[in-house]
Amino acid sequence: MSNCLETSRLILRPWQEADAESLYKYAKDPAVGPVAGWPPHASVEHSREIIRTVFSEPETYAVVLKETGEPVGSAGIMRGDGMHSADMQADEAEIGYWIGVPYWGKGMIPEAVRCLLRRCFADLGMSAVWCGFYDGNRQSQRVMEKCGLTYHHTETGKVSPLGDVRTEHFMRITAEEWNLRNGILRDSPDLNDSPEICLVSSDKKRYLSLLLLADEQESMIDRYLERGDLYVMRDKQAHDAFAVAVVTLEGEGVCELKNLAVSPQCQRKGMGKRMVEYLFGRYKGMCHTMLVGTGDSRQTVGFYLSCGFTYSHTVPDFFTQHYDHLIVEEGQVLRDMLYFRRTL
Ligand SMILES: CC(C)(COP(=O)(O)OP(=O)(O)OC[C@H]1O[C@@H](n2cnc3c(N)ncnc32)[C@H](O)[C@@H]1OP(=O)(O)O)[C@@H](O)C(=O)NCCC(=O)NCCS
Repeated sequence: MSNCLETSRLILRPWQEADAESLYKYAKDPAVGPVAGWPPHASVEHSREIIRTVFSEPETYAVVLKETGEPVGSAGIMRGDGMHSADMQADEAEIGYWIGVPYWGKGMIPEAVRCLLRRCFADLGMSAVWCGFYDGNRQSQRVMEKCGLTYHHTETGKVSPLGDVRTEHFMRITAEEWNLRNGILRDSPDLNDSPEICLVSSDKKRYLSLLLLADEQESMIDRYLERGDLYVMRDKQAHDAFAVAVVTLEGEGVCELKNLAVSPQCQRKGMGKRMVEYLFGRYKGMCHTMLVGTGDSRQTVGFYLSCGFTYSHTVPDFFTQHYDHLIVEEGQVLRDMLYFRRTL
């Protein structure tokens, strides 16, 4: 029997026969199944049959929207016989997923997959998790990249469950890589009074007041917070958070520092730089470049230059186009986004 798992917007729970109508509503769409290798559902009865057979396997979850209670997709962990690639070992698993077309592009499957990765590594003791996507399924590839999987190998001449021959690319994340991304991390563990830096994966909005210091419009923070890695620097004794940073994986070896904020009373004490240096070390193994975008503010640009970033490119009018009000820093209205890069 599978557990119920919860993320900020979703419940992942076992499928029930009563879900057949919802399943049919989304799985009959020819945009969903065939790219993943399975046929569109033909009737509510067909969907019910799939729930009784395929979806009754352990660790197969209905992706249910908390807001409406409706199952709108499926995500599951396959072990042993269910796995597609001969490269996989007994203590490894494969994750598969899909979501109904109206919910594409909202980051919901990455949210579900991050939760299933936690289940694989923290609860089931897996040593590695794989995902495969058929050649050309960029959407699925992006989900894997956002969740920290990296390319491993390609298998050609594979007959899909629909009977056609396809090329399948496999991506993987090992337990070691996942731990590195998700463990509680200590900055200088030998110094007792030094602050600690933790990666926070749930209830990220509790740090909103700090995040708003660096990015003053909540809807803009919403664009990266859930998919990003949120780091919080806090005082070990008092447990008060005084700095935050958010880093997103942008694919092809590039990560982006989306938010960096230090509370006003702790500014100018080297904490921001310390956080940035910590992040360089953390993403070094995973990415070759870190990007950061900022307004044309002398102080902020100076800070990033002093951290070793160099100018990369400009996105004109970013602030005036994307924010619902003018952003003013050091008495200047911010217009363009200046990007800086640093090789890791
Ligand atoms: C792959 C899939 C599960 C992605 O789920 P999702 O919750 O939409 O994931 P995301 O919101 O992170 O979007 C992933 C990518 O899809 C693409 N995308 C987003 N919205 C889209 C839309 N409306 N139409 C087409 N593609 C879209 C983008 O490339 C996006 O990457 P980006 O955020 O870097 O721009 C979903 O597209 C799906 O169910 N596809 C059909 C089944 C399938 O391919 N399953 C995987 C088999 S390996």
